[in-house]
Amino acid sequence: MGNRTLTFKIFRYNPQKPEVKPYMQEYKLEEVSGMTIFVALNKIREELDPSLMFDFVCRAAICGSCAMVINGRPTLACKTLTKDLPAKISLLPLPVFKLVGDLAVDTGTWFRDMAIKTEAWVHTTKEFDPTALEERMDNKTAQEIYEPDRCVECGCCVAGCATANIRADFLGAAGINRVARFMLDPRDERSPEEYYEVVGAEEGAFGCMGLMACDDNCPMEIPLQTQLSFVRRKMLAQGLKLKTEKVAL
Ligand code: FES
Repeated sequence: MGNRTLTFKIFRYNPQKPEVKPYMQEYKLEEVSGMTIFVALNKIREELDPSLMFDFVCRAAICGSCAMVINGRPTLACKTLTKDLPAKISLLPLPVFKLVGDLAVDTGTWFRDMAIKTEAWVHTTKEFDPTALEERMDNKTAQEIYEPDRCVECGCCVAGCATANIRADFLGAAGINRVARFMLDPRDERSPEEYYEVVGAEEGAFGCMGLMACDDNCPMEIPLQTQLSFVRRKMLAQGLKLKTEKVAL
């Protein structure tokens, strides 16, 4: 290890300077032991090109901000070791999200819009009592909620999704996963009808083409298709109920 020279082809475009058309820039770097794409990008920025734009915060696959398309696959730069890749590495920004510059995209706006659309908070009629004892939840339910809650909002599932790439209003696996999280939560008092309003249409659970890219690309290995099937089953039952009611009228 350590004697490969890596060739990086990196997408360059600054929306603030539209007169310079997008292009791919090449950089060469000596590989070192334990090198991640995140380490390589910092080395390029420190030693070769301080103008290169990319995002990171935690360096530990927790914040989700370093997601990009690495050799054709959306994933986290800080979690990807160069030793697992060929010597030629291409880096592109995630599609779907607004480009900030080079490899940096704005996932925050997309995730905030999705959280507002899905009303991603516990809906309850209970008054908050700061003096009340903590409500206990059984371990099994807590574990089930924890599974979709592991999402780090990196956007890899959305970037790899064919539907999200062609329709801007699609909630994507991240949105449906979020809905599943609240459906599982016994504190949330929303009825199936209320959920149906949010995810019972083409831009929700039924827009998925079933290509499974979300599942394949999730760096946290959340079983996104399982969450989708769970939401779909609930919404299908609700859809049939609404249809039967309509026919009976
Ligand atoms: S830097 Fe936080 S997930 Fe990669």
